[in-house]
Amino acid sequence: MIERFGDGRDWFSEKRFGLFVHWGLYAIPAWHEQHQWRGRVDRTKYGELASQFNPTEFDPEAWLDLMEGAGMQYMCLTTKHHDGYCLWDTNQTDFKVTNSPYGKDVLAMLAASCQRRSVPLCLYHSVVDWHHPNYPNQGRSHELEGPLPRDEPDMGRYTEFLRAQVRELCTGYGKIHGLWWDMNVTGIRDTSINEMIRELQPDAVINNRGFDDGDFGTPERDYDRSVDEIRRFTTRTEACQSVGRESWGYKEDEDYYSERHLIRSVDRTMAKGGNYLLNIGPKADGTLPEKGIQLLQKVGDWYKRVRESFDDAEPASELTNNGEVLLTRKGNNLYVHLTQDPTCSRVVLDPLATAPKRAVVLNNGEEVETEVDLIPTRTMSREGILKAVEPCLRVRNLPIDELAGEVVVVKLEFDAFPA
Ligand code: GLC
Repeated sequence: MIERFGDGRDWFSEKRFGLFVHWGLYAIPAWHEQHQWRGRVDRTKYGELASQFNPTEFDPEAWLDLMEGAGMQYMCLTTKHHDGYCLWDTNQTDFKVTNSPYGKDVLAMLAASCQRRSVPLCLYHSVVDWHHPNYPNQGRSHELEGPLPRDEPDMGRYTEFLRAQVRELCTGYGKIHGLWWDMNVTGIRDTSINEMIRELQPDAVINNRGFDDGDFGTPERDYDRSVDEIRRFTTRTEACQSVGRESWGYKEDEDYYSERHLIRSVDRTMAKGGNYLLNIGPKADGTLPEKGIQLLQKVGDWYKRVRESFDDAEPASELTNNGEVLLTRKGNNLYVHLTQDPTCSRVVLDPLATAPKRAVVLNNGEEVETEVDLIPTRTMSREGILKAVEPCLRVRNLPIDELAGEVVVVKLEFDAFPA
């Protein structure tokens, strides 16, 4: 088990499934949150979107209803993405939502709703900035080819700007539960910024994409294959993924992931002890895209049925040699997660050889049979020679066809936990 912080940040071990929200000017062209960079849009031209931002349908309660309905327990909002546009009433730049036709402080509205519902709110903040004249854009990854006319590259001054912004975020919006840095392309190390956050917001967890290692790692989508290979996280981790394959921001013609892919991804992360942040990009009017809503509801519906296998449970996959499943345990209960496509209706948990008193499929509440016996297909070697094998635990009659669209999780209840 990864040790707790032993302070106010421990909310992060209790609430492990969160909603990520990428929202900004890029919702207007509705192509990608990095529209300006990937679409090679001129800075001035991109900036003109600011005079069109008018999300009259924005209702933080509706976002939170969806979030809570899906069993999710915390939220992370992009206060400023790489385009530099700010979703709060900052004093550090004019490039902000309160100067838009909408005119309201989006962060203040969301923070008030979160506080009313006791939903922890974390803030995403980009280090890269395609708008600020002091950010030293040099054409590195996720940077404009700079400097642009009128730019005055000066990382020192830019860092002071960033510090002042984060101070505003940490002092003007009540309790903040996390700072989610992104894209420190400069690689600059400066522990003083996170120290300031810790002083102002001691319950805030900080990720590892800022100016020091922070509190937790952030494997993204399916990019980090090493995450697939391990059976448990040994350091604090929060994986992130969007409902759409292409973009984190709203994309009108998004290519959405399958429910099954998302469910598996959540299961694999959480069964290994990680948190999971699943993202949706609201439209320019403030509403959420229908297909994204449906996916969150579907994933949430599965999550709520199997949730007890994650809450307060610890990863226990090393109890079996079966690499096709992941295990979690809580007290005398062991939970078997069929994270890979099950090819047959039984799962063998060698070398475990104790029968549980009950085995229940959490997905549908049905009891299934278990046996501790000798498995015929395991009695001989590859070369066809008989080998010594012990009886082991076999969980049977799993409804794998009925539940083919989701990860099956079986709860095994023991009298005493098998040694
Ligand atoms: C990647 C994307 C960025 C997005 C982030 C979320 O870094 O490039 O646009 O905000 O993932 O994790």
